[in-house]
Amino acid sequence: MAALHPDLNFIALDFYNKGCIKTCKRVDKSGLANVRVLRAEARSFIDSCIPASALRKVIINCPDPWPKLRHRKRRLVNSGFATYLSRFMGTEADFYFATDFVDYGLDVAEFMDVQPEYINQLAPDTFRHALAGYPVSKYMRRFLDLGQPIYYVHYRKS
Ligand SMILES: C[S@@+](CC[C@H](N)C(=O)[O-])C[C@H]1O[C@@H](n2cnc3c(N)ncnc32)[C@H](O)[C@@H]1O
Repeated sequence: MAALHPDLNFIALDFYNKGCIKTCKRVDKSGLANVRVLRAEARSFIDSCIPASALRKVIINCPDPWPKLRHRKRRLVNSGFATYLSRFMGTEADFYFATDFVDYGLDVAEFMDVQPEYINQLAPDTFRHALAGYPVSKYMRRFLDLGQPIYYVHYRKS
């Protein structure tokens, strides 16, 4: 994504070292100068480091799905998070969410459609299984190779 948008600066977040190190290696290998990698929890990082209306894109790829019903409240992306996030997004900033987990995909597609802060960019669909020009991560590729779809959601801040 950073290679496709050299005009934007990217902050790549993950709270596990393993993901961060892999991303650092790939950034170094591709010589990208517009990416910084941070080991941080997304919400606390935004809270402490991102000014209001500063983000032009938010891209959330396959966060932990917390499949057990009793753990669902641990999911990063929910209606409250979408409202919270909108304060940090500039006008017409993009929100992308991708997941391999059907229930998470359908849930996000459903609540985003009634979030007053956002406009659906895939209408009349609320999600799709492919987005033109959207890079597929190694993690996503594993599911696609098994014939399991990825759920993509794309909204824009109103
Ligand atoms: C299944 S992996 C996906 C990795 C990568 N995003 C991709 O698509 O290839 C899920 C990752 O989300 C990270 N994650 C989940 N919730 C997070 C949060 N609140 N803040 C930062 N990272 C988070 C986890 O640390 C984990 O490495």
